[in-house]
Amino acid sequence: MLSTKIQIRGQPLHRIPKRNNRVIHSVACGVSTKPLHRESNVLSRMSGPSSGSVPTKSDKSHFLSGDVTGKFGRFGGKFVPETLMSRLIELEDEFHCILSDHEFQEELTIALRDYVGRETPLYFAGRLTEHYKNISRTIGGGPEIYLKREDLSHCGSHKINNALAQAMIARRLGCSRVVAATGAGQHGVATAAACAKLSLDCTVFMGATDIEKQFSNVLSMKLLGAQVKSVEGTFKDASSEAIRYWVENLDSTYNLCGTVVGPHPCPIMVREFQSVIGKETRRQAKQLWGGKPDVLVACLGSGSNALGLFHEFVGDEDVRLVGVEAAGLGLDSGKHSATLAIGHVGVYHGSMSYLMQDDQGQILKPHSVGVGLEYPGVGPEISFLKESGRAEFYTATDQEAIQACMRLSRLEGIIPALETSHALAFLDKLIPTLSDGAKVVVNCSGRGDKDLDTLIQRGMLFPNC
Ligand SMILES: Cc1ncc(COP(=O)(O)O)c(C=O)c1O
Repeated sequence: MLSTKIQIRGQPLHRIPKRNNRVIHSVACGVSTKPLHRESNVLSRMSGPSSGSVPTKSDKSHFLSGDVTGKFGRFGGKFVPETLMSRLIELEDEFHCILSDHEFQEELTIALRDYVGRETPLYFAGRLTEHYKNISRTIGGGPEIYLKREDLSHCGSHKINNALAQAMIARRLGCSRVVAATGAGQHGVATAAACAKLSLDCTVFMGATDIEKQFSNVLSMKLLGAQVKSVEGTFKDASSEAIRYWVENLDSTYNLCGTVVGPHPCPIMVREFQSVIGKETRRQAKQLWGGKPDVLVACLGSGSNALGLFHEFVGDEDVRLVGVEAAGLGLDSGKHSATLAIGHVGVYHGSMSYLMQDDQGQILKPHSVGVGLEYPGVGPEISFLKESGRAEFYTATDQEAIQACMRLSRLEGIIPALETSHALAFLDKLIPTLSDGAKVVVNCSGRGDKDLDTLIQRGMLFPNC
């Protein structure tokens, strides 16, 4: 068999088989597997301390891409039943192939430009900058705030960057059906759109309460031709159900993971497809002010928009990386999604990472007004960035996020998603600590049209109209 050398983002070269796509098609989706029992251990967890080294800040190789087995220090891995291993290995091979496949990369680049609308602007938020300048009464110009406008992407969030690329992989693998799980519905809409474009059947699992809260996105998914299946519970339950569906339909189905969690290669793959955000930001910062950003800020559900922005800058130690988790009703209330603030290491949905769990190792129910932040864990690379001290993590409450959403809407005429609003809320604490002229880039990960019902229910619209 022919072989080729593949280089993943400047990391050590390793050999993988070079394969004819037609062969991959028949192997990958025609793999014959026995249906698994519903209690498959793909959904099982192990909690408590684990082996493996605690990363250090100087451990650059892991910062840049994870090792070849998808481990970031002690985080990551493939905690799945043996029956799934062949599919994950096929996926890993295919992912490595497309990284150096010019045809794939060209098709993706054109689709990102003409379909998604990239590059997205790096927008100077002048009135928001002025707002903080007035509050802190600085004599100079104060720190400058820029928004990376992922909300302007097709379907209204960063999720399309990954959904489109993975749908292209599903098509290459010869899968006719895509299954996905969604919380806020943004990943569901992005996946439904990508599947419509590529003529793939699409099934999206979504928690019943999320369906109620984000109904406009459910309607969009249906209009785009997807089947939306309601699951009792929230995003974590929808994710479990999507995995079960995938396991039972391995022959024809591709599981399109929407964030940087799950077994290797899912976290690395999603991060790779989202890293376009940071690459553009570096270029745009150079054009706009001739340098790099000083601080990058992103909300943290599981970590795809945060890593999308951060990854390009992980090796630039003069750039601060700040992730903001959902403190919900407060960290003491038990109703939040602040995994890194209170979590412990365990295994869930196929990989090792920080999780919200009780003393018995049972997963805690997450809460946030930003439905897309309601996941009881974070991706392994995020856990690594925390443990190594390379990135900083803070929290914002529901109320702080709602206030930030109102503020950006009124000052800049931009309605951010309630998920994004957590990152914006943290500016209240961050900006007064920064020096004059510091450049802060906030990932505006999505638009907030989907959240209008929530804002009405919280009494935010009608009293002041
Ligand atoms: C607009 C928006 N931002 C952020 C997130 C959080 O996801 P992640 O942490 O993977 O970026 C979501 C999830 O649905 C979202 O819809």
